[in-house]
Amino acid sequence: MNTQTLKVDKGVDNHHSYQQTVDCLRNGGLVAFPTETVYGLGALATDPNATKRIFEAKGRPSDNPLIVHIGTKEEVNTYAAEIPESALLLMEAFWPGPLTLIFNEKPGVIAESVTVGLGTVGLRMPDHPVALKLLRLLGGPLAAPSANRSGKPSPTRASHVARDLDGRIPFILDGGATGVGVESTVIDMTSNPPAILRPGGITVDMIEAVIGPVRSETRVEESDAPRAPGMKYMHYSPDAPVWLIEPDRTQIEQAVKVLKDEGKKVAVIGPDELKTDKSSWYFATGAYADPSQLASNLYDVLRKCDETEADVILAVEAPPEGMGIAVMNRLKKAADGKRFSM
Ligand code: TXA
Ligand code: MG
Repeated sequence: MNTQTLKVDKGVDNHHSYQQTVDCLRNGGLVAFPTETVYGLGALATDPNATKRIFEAKGRPSDNPLIVHIGTKEEVNTYAAEIPESALLLMEAFWPGPLTLIFNEKPGVIAESVTVGLGTVGLRMPDHPVALKLLRLLGGPLAAPSANRSGKPSPTRASHVARDLDGRIPFILDGGATGVGVESTVIDMTSNPPAILRPGGITVDMIEAVIGPVRSETRVEESDAPRAPGMKYMHYSPDAPVWLIEPDRTQIEQAVKVLKDEGKKVAVIGPDELKTDKSSWYFATGAYADPSQLASNLYDVLRKCDETEADVILAVEAPPEGMGIAVMNRLKKAADGKRFSM
């Protein structure tokens, strides 16, 4: 299959590009498109054959459900069996935006491969002009996980999608770099109190300011049936092993020395103010105190590390608050829990 990348951010022949991708989706095909978080790999969520193709293209385990994207708030009524008052408040406060709400599903509407028989459906209205235009022209729901090969960092640029999925999907809508950079927050509105299943672009504090206390369970014990099935898989890994390290210059420089003495080439991902010339590569990700800059750059720098000859990647920990929580959730997965200490 030939993959075509269609640029839509500069208004070049836009109408034709959108029409081609809408036709493709209506015929059961896949289209990668930008959202404000990461690029999604979309298929018509009501078409079982189309949604199965997503799992094939990504190499994604079939027990991991997909988020359904909608173009208007009203569509929630079509897919959710009931809408709790607190969900209405969250939709009012944060949609369009990086928040996925899990509802009990209305049976028989969304394809079974999307909800994987859980009886629930994750819905979100993305805050990106390209995604919203595509959804409105399509006039239907788009099932869309992140548009990466399973296990690779999520894509925040069209070139990342092409690198992972070239030859596997017909179209990539290129709307430039995404903004938020980490995936949406996933919150289960079917439990009382609602439970955060994945930290993301909307922080726990922002949610609690609107609906009061929520449960935050971002770790799944081995023995438990996973509530957000995606959480049990290792994610976001570049090729070289990743080790977390404290935001401390002495620690970083000592770690680099130890690793170099073992004959290893080291790449460091860290804040601007800790930049050191001791490592072979240093990817600066903005001010330490503003982890939203790190969120926005994280997947791009993890992928850039793959383009170096680094044998080891040291990733400097973010502050454990605000967007730092979502970033640390992704970094811990990338590092598989490994932390460098001496
Ligand atoms: O920002 C995002 O959410 C991006 C963009 C493309 O919208 N999408 C995304 O999708 O990250 P994905 O498939 O990579 O992650 C979906 C997460 C998984 O952890 C999955 O297990 C959970 O949402 N999920 C989806 N539907 C669910 C459901 N019915 N119940 C529990 N968890 C669900
Ligand atoms: Mg993903």
